[in-house]
Amino acid sequence: METEKNELVLHTLSESEEETCRLGADIAAVAFPGLTLLLEGTLGSGKTTLVRGIAQALGARNVRSPSFTLINEYDGNIPIVHVDLYRLPKDGGDALGLEEYLLQDSLILVEWPDRWSSPPLADLWLVHFSLSSGGEETTRDVREIVIESRGARATVALKSLAERRRFVERS
Ligand SMILES: Nc1ncnc2c1ncn2[C@@H]1O[C@H](COP(=O)(O)OP(=O)(O)OP(=O)(O)O)[C@@H](O)[C@H]1O
Ligand SMILES: [Mg+2]
Repeated sequence: METEKNELVLHTLSESEEETCRLGADIAAVAFPGLTLLLEGTLGSGKTTLVRGIAQALGARNVRSPSFTLINEYDGNIPIVHVDLYRLPKDGGDALGLEEYLLQDSLILVEWPDRWSSPPLADLWLVHFSLSSGGEETTRDVREIVIESRGARATVALKSLAERRRFVERS
C-alpha cells in the first residue's frame, strides 16, 4: 500500500526458513549499492536467515551471524556489510562508523538497529519481523514480515520487489 510518494509498505508472510531465504533472494534481485536494511524483530524471528538468503543470492559465502564480531563483510555482486548490534548498549552502534560503508556503496544489513541512533533517512528499508500469534504447531514457523521504504530509490526497489513477489505467487 502506498502511503506517500517516497514511502511504500509491503506486507508478506513466510511459513518456513526456506521461504524466508527465498524472500532474501528476491530482495537481492532488486537491492542496489547504498541501500540500508534495518532488520527489527525479536530473537529468532528470522533476521539472520533473511540476510543469508540475500547474501547467498548475491554470490557471498560463509554467511554467519555477527553476534560476536559485530560486523561481517561479504564479497558479493554488491559488497555486503552485515551488522548485529544486539550486544551493544543504547547508541552503541554510533561509534562503528557504519556511514563509511555507505560512501563505499555497500549494501548494509543491520540486526538490532535500535542501538544505532543515526541511521540514514533515505535509501532505506525498515524490515520488521514478528512471530505469528497462533502458537499452534502448524503456525510455529510463520513469520509476518513488513517492509517499509524511505526515499525515492528505495521505494522504486520495493515496488520492484512487490511486483516480483506477485509474479512468483502467480507462477
Ligand atoms: N519462517 C521462518 N523464517 C525464518 N526462520 C524461521 C522460520 N520458521 C522457523 N524459523 C527458525 O527460526 C530461527 C531464526 O533464526 P535467525 O538466526 O534467523 O533469527 P534472528 O532474528 O537473526 O535472531 P537473533 O535476534 O538472535 O539474531 C531459525 O532457527 C529458523 O530455523
Ligand atoms: Mg540474527
